[in-house]
Amino acid sequence: MIKSQLKLLQNEKLPSRKELNSNQHWLILYSSSEKTKRLAYYDLLNDRRKQLGRKKYDSEPVEIDLPNSVRSHTVYACVDEKISAFDLLTLCRKLVGIQKNYKVRKLGVILAGFDIAQSERLAEAVVAAAAATAAVMPNYKSKSKQKAGLSRLELFGLKIDHNFKRTLAEAEGNALARYLSILPPNELTPGNYLTRIRGLAKENKWKLEFYDQKNLTKKKAGAFLAVVQGSHEEDAGIVRLQYKPGNEKSRNTVCLVGKGICYDTGGNNLKPAKYMYGMHEDMQGSAVALGTFLALSKMQVDFPVECWLALAMNHIGPKAYKPNDVITASDGTTIEIVHTDAEGRMVLADTLALASMSKPKLIIDYATLTGACVYSLGSSYSGVFTNREDLHADLIQVGKDSGERVWPFPLDEDYDKGLESDIADVKQCALEGDADHILAARFLQRFVKNKCNWVHMDLASSNHKGGLAHIPTDTAGFGVRYSVSLLIDKELKL
Ligand code: BES
Ligand code: ZN
Ligand code: ZN
Repeated sequence: MIKSQLKLLQNEKLPSRKELNSNQHWLILYSSSEKTKRLAYYDLLNDRRKQLGRKKYDSEPVEIDLPNSVRSHTVYACVDEKISAFDLLTLCRKLVGIQKNYKVRKLGVILAGFDIAQSERLAEAVVAAAAATAAVMPNYKSKSKQKAGLSRLELFGLKIDHNFKRTLAEAEGNALARYLSILPPNELTPGNYLTRIRGLAKENKWKLEFYDQKNLTKKKAGAFLAVVQGSHEEDAGIVRLQYKPGNEKSRNTVCLVGKGICYDTGGNNLKPAKYMYGMHEDMQGSAVALGTFLALSKMQVDFPVECWLALAMNHIGPKAYKPNDVITASDGTTIEIVHTDAEGRMVLADTLALASMSKPKLIIDYATLTGACVYSLGSSYSGVFTNREDLHADLIQVGKDSGERVWPFPLDEDYDKGLESDIADVKQCALEGDADHILAARFLQRFVKNKCNWVHMDLASSNHKGGLAHIPTDTAGFGVRYSVSLLIDKELKL
């Protein structure tokens, strides 16, 4: 994996006209306040906005070449200091994106006319967007060489000395999640995925355990094994990673769990071409769990974190599981199979049961679990579900603050009616009826043991055409920035 390092330089003052004239590429955010007028070339920039018929604030970038000898290529916007995190990150993606097209290596960033806290917030968004854009993604085009991208940001107008450690850790976690998700499925098999995770574990000093199929047979993890029995390779399994802080303050472990289906053909209930295409990204839940785990570990958080990843393929074949099979999960629950394309809840059932054995304080699972969630929300929000309904307001707020927006769904017990089986404890899913995203979450909830607090994220926004918020690729790695914010900024009363 190719790493891109973004170097940051910082200046408290705005650049002088001479400094402005000496750099080739600029990105400027300015406020509508009087203070902005101190910025060199302010009149020129603002006149151009007027020519374009812009109102008080810009939601799209403005572009201009400064009238100097290097014709400094400048992209800019006048922003409302109350702009939402999502809108700000979206604007920053567009601004950085224009500069990227000019193959910029070093970009000057100016924040003019804001107070200390505002300029810090804006700088954070620019750094997040720049780091997301600078990240190198898999590319198999034989003729294209990987070009060196953005490597240096020089910030002006930022008063606090800030190393953006968290933003860069989140960006690294997000880039890892996107990189893995974009890899083609003949490359990222469960076995290859495990090898990559082993490498990361060594590099970051994480403890790694792998429950292979033999081990899972001993654990009677029949729900996981039902899905993988259709694979010719015996490389599926569940990974458990552990991060322990050096100076542990809290013993409350947070557990991140992810669906890692490296390809979802649908199995015997085979997906039609249009719906199968893209299903190499059905492992994005695991990639987001791993990316979040990496970010928290890079930030050296002071609480223990575990990461549980269910790595498997959902194949079709003579041995593949089929509708009407009845299987037994590791906790003894018997499940009537209804549709082999509902494989995510099967592999997660055993993974959640195993993860909750050691009684973590909080379990967050991530999965591209249901088409129903995408139908309900589209792909600009993800769905959240929790056994702690009192957390709904916090869960929404973290989405607004981080720019990775989520919306909660109900999880009342009476939804279980849709999962009643004549022959087993529970049906895997319903063949007809609505709200599969809620039924899937109700199904998962059964396997969360020991009264653990639990949040389930159905990643409807794992792939958003044209990019989402600060992320320029269709593959979003959605959830890393959200989760860090949830765990660090919010004092969850658990
Ligand atoms: N991985 C899919 C769900 C999915 C599809 C998420 C596209 C995001 C984008 C999942 O395994 C699946 O196929 N679910 C079925 C469940 C149904 C058979 C009950 C679905 O949603 O159609
Ligand atoms: Zn499926
Ligand atoms: Zn799936």
